[in-house]
Amino acid sequence: MQIFKTTTDLKHFLDNCRDNNKEISLVPTMGGLHDGHLKLVDRAREISDIVVVSIFINPTQFNNPEDLANYPNTLDKDLSLLKKANCDIVYAPKISDLYISGEMVKNYNFGDIAALMEGEYRPEHFNGMATIVEKFFRIIKPTKAFFGQKDLQQLQVVKALVKQMKIPTEIISTPTIREKSGLAKSSRNKLLSSTDKENASLIYNCLLYCRNNKTK
Ligand code: PAF
Repeated sequence: MQIFKTTTDLKHFLDNCRDNNKEISLVPTMGGLHDGHLKLVDRAREISDIVVVSIFINPTQFNNPEDLANYPNTLDKDLSLLKKANCDIVYAPKISDLYISGEMVKNYNFGDIAALMEGEYRPEHFNGMATIVEKFFRIIKPTKAFFGQKDLQQLQVVKALVKQMKIPTEIISTPTIREKSGLAKSSRNKLLSSTDKENASLIYNCLLYCRNNKTK
């Protein structure tokens, strides 16, 4: 597994792979890896020649500075998990490799897909997420990119992004991986107490109950 810290080195390496007709896949992450991410890597591994995993805590998609400061940063553990998962390349750049000083997020128009639900409570979150994902797609030029269904709204925004920007990357999604309790695995679960986790699992269990007990 090779680790790249700069766009220039990564691009140079990937151009070489492409010249050798290798198909490149991307699994974008912000680190704090868990089984949900590893499922994406496994899927990518099955259907691609070169699997690139990016680890970058993207500051522009955080509307709350405290959330950004507390976001789990577990690079060493992430690297050993990725090595075991047979990942080929990790791209773990610094902020200055991807953003010029003072750079703003792009102002996309995704309509209601980004304006409703999470978009209503996290202004600029989806513009920030799409800005970095578009940068990754332009740098890495993956044939396929993998996103979890856990972030359903993000997945729809990314699909709209590739359509709007005419980016020739196929978006592939994999199902949510859950704890035994039903709680979706998520990097931010590390920030929850055991009571918080128990309470959060009620959401999924209530939804399951409704689905299983609905009257026609
Ligand atoms: O889902 C995430 O971890 C992030 O939103 C992503 C897609 C890596 C962009 O920063």
